[in-house]
Amino acid sequence: MKVGVLASGGGTNLQALIDAAARGALGPAKLAVVGVNVDGCGALERARQAGLATFVVDHRAFADRATFDRALVAELRVRQVELLVMAGFMRLVTAELLDAFPGRVINIHPALLPAFPGVDGQSQAFEYGVKIAGCTVHFVDRGRDSGPVIAQTAVCVLENDDEDRLRQRILEEEHRLLPAVVRAIAEGRVTLEGRRVRVRAAIADETRLRSL
Ligand code: GRF
Repeated sequence: MKVGVLASGGGTNLQALIDAAARGALGPAKLAVVGVNVDGCGALERARQAGLATFVVDHRAFADRATFDRALVAELRVRQVELLVMAGFMRLVTAELLDAFPGRVINIHPALLPAFPGVDGQSQAFEYGVKIAGCTVHFVDRGRDSGPVIAQTAVCVLENDDEDRLRQRILEEEHRLLPAVVRAIAEGRVTLEGRRVRVRAAIADETRLRSL
């Protein structure tokens, strides 16, 4: 399954996908292209270092979001992308993009949705005083961080935590969760029933579980 990744920033989630692919942990998923809207961002550098195909589409060059999305779709289609992963992509997408990849656009969010959508979910949770924070991988729909939840990881807020330490621990869990979800989708183990997403365990895990 050809995977396209969209990013805007440092690209550590992209790096987690690159590293997972290198150790064979993405199953049949293959990173086909990395697209960024910010030229020179860390994600672009990481993609180039990994020898991946890349493109830069600067959103400021477009009159509106729909036109920008059409340009993204054109680039992704050229590389026959089948699954689109938003790994720190800081633009709201429109139906132009979602309709081009129905049920095949996912996003990683640094909070336990539906709590704390939008930017800086980590600091929203920290400021709120939650005891359990975490991250979410979800299907992207036309809302803001409102699509069906695929998987989540909880991260305890420690008594001596400050926001940066919490942010780092959440990020480490993001780096585990996102590759696992990409692999599960590529292995056909993810199904959507209404808003509920079923993720069947990896065959190896099922075998291990049965052997217990
Ligand atoms: C991550 O925390 C992700 O959850 C959020 O933006 C951040 C991107 O970080 N959407 P990176 O660019 O992957 O390092």
